[in-house]
Amino acid sequence: MARLRPRSATYVAPPNIALVKYWGVRDPELALPYNSSLSVTLDRMRSRTTVAFDASLDDDRVELGGAPAVGGPRDGVVAMLDRVRAAAGIAAKAHVRSENNFPTASGLASSASGFAALAGAASAAAGLPLAGRALSRLARFGSGSASRSVFGGFVEWRAGHRPDGRDCYAAPLFPPDHWPELVDAVAIVRGAPTKEVRSAVAMQSTVRTSPVYRARLAAVPRRIARMRRAIAARDPAALFPVVMEECDDFRAVCETTRPTLDYLTSASRAVLGEVRALNREAGRPIAAYTHDAGAHVHVFTVRRHLPTVRRRLAAIAGIQEVRVVRPGPGARRIGGPRVGPA
Ligand code: PMV
Repeated sequence: MARLRPRSATYVAPPNIALVKYWGVRDPELALPYNSSLSVTLDRMRSRTTVAFDASLDDDRVELGGAPAVGGPRDGVVAMLDRVRAAAGIAAKAHVRSENNFPTASGLASSASGFAALAGAASAAAGLPLAGRALSRLARFGSGSASRSVFGGFVEWRAGHRPDGRDCYAAPLFPPDHWPELVDAVAIVRGAPTKEVRSAVAMQSTVRTSPVYRARLAAVPRRIARMRRAIAARDPAALFPVVMEECDDFRAVCETTRPTLDYLTSASRAVLGEVRALNREAGRPIAAYTHDAGAHVHVFTVRRHLPTVRRRLAAIAGIQEVRVVRPGPGARRIGGPRVGPA
């Protein structure tokens, strides 16, 4: 019997850092967030994922970073494949290989890049021509932040209002080259602890238990509007204070969650303190910190302050490395067309 030729596709996708965080799901079935979020897609780092549907396979074969995936990580990939198979009307199992060119589970958002690349590769391999909004909608089922990694530059994921989720998708705000002076110096914390609780679970315990979560939801739309204006004007003095206000608010809802969520180490906290000191010394905001549900801290600044910021962060005990990244392009098919707005 002739073996069916596998249908295969490869995608690369970058991580992103949220300036306004996604934290809380209003509809778990449809993966709809409570609030809109805003992020910067990052260059230099990427996940590269190949999906090959092969009718001769008895089960899905998933390799992450060269090793067979088991447990939760495997289940997440298989759930995405099942969703794509159902949409494409195919039954074939798949061989999935995914690699990151940065340390996995290091808190550098490998779920965003990984699921954006997986959604792109799986849908293309299944013969579904998904791009832009449609790909963003699919990617969010793997990981909410993955919906934003579909696009490059500055991206907004709109929570939408409709119960069916049709108005929930990410969209590009400004392209990667919009603000060439803006840089992100990532302070990598040595021996950063791996997450005890998955973000998807942790955020729902915040929704249930944090007494300040409602106030956060009320504040987010104004913050997004302020950030959009500041980014449009390429104005660090307008952007940086609101980035730190949002990060402090995110940390406050985490710390008031029961049981408490504490993602930072003493080195991370020292980075926040150093950024505050730099701004005090300069007499104006020249840098802004932000962090996700992890210990590493992203410090935004503009090129002319980068040498100072870099030197000050590198001198902090417990900081292993300061990695400088910039706004970069979104997900794209290797050997296929670039993904653009739908
Ligand atoms: O995309 P998830 O389910 O891994 O959650 C991401 C949560 C944060 O990184 C803390 C915030 C965000 O918007 O990226």
